Amino acid sequence: MGTNLRPYPWQDPWVKMATHTLPIQVGWPWAAKPMGRIAGFINRCFVYSKSLKISKGIKIPSDCAGCDCEGDCANNKNCSCAQLNGSDLPYVSFKNIGRLVEPKAVVFECGANCSCNRNCVNRTSQQGLQHRLEVFKTASKGWGVRTWDTILPGAPICEYVGVLKRTEEVDGLLHNNYIFDIDCLQTMKGLDGREKRAGSDMNMPSLHAENDSEAPPAPEYCIDAGSVGSFARFINHSCNPNLFVQCVLTNHHDVKLAKVMLFAADTILPLQELCYDYGYVLNSVVSADGEIVKLPCCCGAPDCRKRLY
Ligand SMILES: C[S@@+](CC[C@H](N)C(=O)[O-])C[C@H]1O[C@@H](n2cnc3c(N)ncnc32)[C@H](O)[C@@H]1O
Ligand SMILES: [Zn+2]
Ligand SMILES: [Zn+2]
Ligand SMILES: [Zn+2]
Repeated sequence: MGTNLRPYPWQDPWVKMATHTLPIQVGWPWAAKPMGRIAGFINRCFVYSKSLKISKGIKIPSDCAGCDCEGDCANNKNCSCAQLNGSDLPYVSFKNIGRLVEPKAVVFECGANCSCNRNCVNRTSQQGLQHRLEVFKTASKGWGVRTWDTILPGAPICEYVGVLKRTEEVDGLLHNNYIFDIDCLQTMKGLDGREKRAGSDMNMPSLHAENDSEAPPAPEYCIDAGSVGSFARFINHSCNPNLFVQCVLTNHHDVKLAKVMLFAADTILPLQELCYDYGYVLNSVVSADGEIVKLPCCCGAPDCRKRLY
């Protein structure tokens, strides 16, 4: 815990959960159990990792061309990464933190093959945690994540990390609550009611691996944060969320393997819970005996859809 942080009295006791660029705390608001047991409970469940782990047999390409800018790409009108994003960079810099101007089908960031500097605004998702956050016990949704700081719209929150796997290799949601499908391609095609975003109609051969001009109905890859993950695995669903999911490409252009980032959709005030729309298709989860499984939603939004799936 940073020395500049003091716990709110009603959140005592605390436990340090993991080291990130900024502190993440775990708080138990009702102090109902001895801290050792809570720490043991949370730590036994998963291994903390700040970065994505890749399953054996999956190869992440790293061969795309980079820009040849010097310094920050925001100062270079001819940046080739800006061209990939449709002529403008997707981020603007505010108080030295990049902010995403609008949700996009996909964001092309500068990466290992670009010659700009490490703090280029077009590397915003690579700059690590920018806000003080807390993992806390919610009243009805298990653990959740809330902020200690005011977060501005478009600010990066975190990457959803875990183990990158082929979807066919993982047990479904019924057995594992922490699976995140990488559905960037399906979003671009507007499948299953997904809302199309700016740039969805982009026709770039390099965006798609091999010949998948027709998006497959189900995502080929997913991130499994069941046994390995960061605090991101504790962010709950809301039907009226204050975060949104954004696919980001840095060192390659295969959207099926895009990095999954969460960004702030609104101004988020201290102690507000962070949440995004899990986007499950209703009636899509079926038990072994063919019954539709329903999970009630406790997000509390006035327009709550009442079910996650
Ligand atoms: C990725 S986990 C989120 C962290 C989880 N709350 C925990 O304690 O580990 C997803 C699970 O959290 C719960 N959850 C998330 N959002 C919810 C909501 N709006 N209403 C009810 N349960 C929710 C459900 O059990 C869901 O399967
Ligand atoms: Zn750059
Ligand atoms: Zn550039
Ligand atoms: Zn809801």
